[in-house]
Amino acid sequence: MSKLVGLLVGRENTFPEPFLEVVNTKGRDLGVRAEMALLGGTAEFEAPRYDVIVDRISHEVPYYRAHLKSATLLGTAVINDPFWWEADEKFFECTLARKLGVAVPRTVVLPNKEYLPDIDPGVSLRNLRYPLDWEAIVGYTGLPAVLKPNTGGGWKDVHVVGSMEELWRAYDTSGTNTMILQEFIDWQDYVRCICIGREQVLPIRYDPRLPFIDRYRTEDPVEGWLYDRAVEDARLLTQALGYDMDTVEFAVRDGVLYAIDFLNPAPDFDNFSIKEANFWWVLDRMSDLVLSYALGSADPPWRGQQRWWRYAKAEVTP
Ligand SMILES: Nc1ncnc2c1ncn2[C@@H]1O[C@H](COP(=O)(O)OP(=O)(O)O)[C@@H](O)[C@H]1O
Ligand SMILES: [Mg+2]
Repeated sequence: MSKLVGLLVGRENTFPEPFLEVVNTKGRDLGVRAEMALLGGTAEFEAPRYDVIVDRISHEVPYYRAHLKSATLLGTAVINDPFWWEADEKFFECTLARKLGVAVPRTVVLPNKEYLPDIDPGVSLRNLRYPLDWEAIVGYTGLPAVLKPNTGGGWKDVHVVGSMEELWRAYDTSGTNTMILQEFIDWQDYVRCICIGREQVLPIRYDPRLPFIDRYRTEDPVEGWLYDRAVEDARLLTQALGYDMDTVEFAVRDGVLYAIDFLNPAPDFDNFSIKEANFWWVLDRMSDLVLSYALGSADPPWRGQQRWWRYAKAEVTP
């Protein structure tokens, strides 16, 4: 029986067509086809149309996320795990990195600046220390420090603060966002790794100070001990997190690789930013991955992991 791969995308334009084309070419003799997924009004117990879905946008389209959670239970191999992606946060990831032996900047999670209008601080916030001991917090992270959202992306609301006053000013703009304050790593080198299938890791030199389009610096390849260490740590992080597509960024200071941002479950795959050779590397690894899931020669990392899998009856068919 032929297998179908569906792709969910947002704004990106350069990845979808070549990706579908490569999967269709490699899959032709294997009975695997790929298309842009089309979803809407799916029922709770309906045979899923797709054997595999590559999800690049459910963080912005909640209906997709709702559908994907149910589809996993009905047999679709979703990349990435919609449950874990929804639960994951930068602060948790910093603690996890420590437990994995991967270096991360010293990090503190902060109570929100603001709450929903219905919240009466005297009643609902009784467990919050107030005022915060900013001296102690900054004593731990040092200054300068980075104040940034615990979840989010695209460098939105990321502030580098050099003094207490700057910190408070930035914190005062954070509204209902939960923020983390992080030691600023004054790096000498910077590497971003594209990670596919929890095994394949492509470290690329990256300069976050340059304009967006110039940041991936392909002319200066990552080599030697830095390459080995980046691959090892990025692989460990994505294996522990269970992400089949992710990017992992490291700031390198005095020979130590500090993991800065590894919560990128819909990483930038555009050919103009990651550059052509890296783009083809991605297409090749991503297509192999979806083919292995479509054909059942590999299993997504999350399958069978949550408690409810134990109770779900395998033989019930929609
Ligand atoms: N602790 C840090 N030390 C040094 N630079 C940082 C630190 N945290 C963030 N940055 C810089 O800010 C950029 C954006 O932060 P990041 O955590 O990646 O946020 P986002 O999730 O919005 O991409 C990073 O790519 C990095 O260049
Ligand atoms: Mg980032």
